[in-house]
Amino acid sequence: PKIGVLCGGLSAEREVSLKTGEAIYKALLKNKYNAVKIDVDKNIAENLKINNIELAFVALHGKYGEDGTIQGLLEILGIPYTGSDVLASATAINKIATKKVMAYEGIPTPGYFAVSRWEYTNNPGSIASQIEKLGLPVVVKAATQGSTIGISFVNTKEQISNAFEDAFKYDDNVLVEKMIDGIEITASVLGNESPQALPLIEIVSATGIYDYKAKYTVGLSDHIIPPRINNELQEKIKTLAIRTYQAVGCRGLARVDFMVDASGKAYALEVNTIPGMTETSLFPDAAKAAGISFEALVKKLVDLAVP
Ligand code: DAL
Ligand code: MG
Repeated sequence: PKIGVLCGGLSAEREVSLKTGEAIYKALLKNKYNAVKIDVDKNIAENLKINNIELAFVALHGKYGEDGTIQGLLEILGIPYTGSDVLASATAINKIATKKVMAYEGIPTPGYFAVSRWEYTNNPGSIASQIEKLGLPVVVKAATQGSTIGISFVNTKEQISNAFEDAFKYDDNVLVEKMIDGIEITASVLGNESPQALPLIEIVSATGIYDYKAKYTVGLSDHIIPPRINNELQEKIKTLAIRTYQAVGCRGLARVDFMVDASGKAYALEVNTIPGMTETSLFPDAAKAAGISFEALVKKLVDLAVP
């Protein structure tokens, strides 16, 4: 089929998406597909029609790409696409909605509360008491961003207002989550009805925080495969990752991020339905560790999209 690689887009992760899209486009050509790159802007519906594609490889991150909106447009236009459907995308992009699903399914996730812009303006006392209850340190996150955009680590009371100001720049809803001190592990999951977990990766950042810079600067973060935790815990995290994937209703692929505390308890943080596919990205590394080359991974995602 003629495949359109949808990339770029209108979100704060545009630059990441352009890299993801370029890598996928090259891999599709190597797989001998007829492919075209399509930068997603306000004229996307026309561009999709002009290019006459039969399948969309969605290589977008964040708003209008990973959040169910482009998936909805593709549904309306009758164009099959890679990855998760409207509902799973919309759920996973929202860290608050995802945590509600996890809590309902009994998947361990750090304690949290949600704050709307209205509440922040009109009821600061309630927020202060909820933070008190949760206990510092906490992580303040814009509900629907990726790549650590709009996220602050709050260790002292003085840092709270700056953290909210930053998060509310990106979103009307903010998640305040108990900070888990420990190691960061990510689980890459691949498949539709019977998804498989790829080898886990432990993430170590040179800056101490796995933020935007550490994520996308070569040499600033290390991927440790296998992670330095015992096999039993690795299997447990893989099982939790698959349960989370299925609870959210993901298809194709997703990356579920975890923190493991000093006592060896694993907490699921979030689901990324379109994980980065750049040269420093985690998902392609996990696939490689499973013996799946980048080209083979891209082909697999095309196959998973077409029933
Ligand atoms: N949001 C970025 C692209 C990721 O999860 O890899
Ligand atoms: Mg994310």
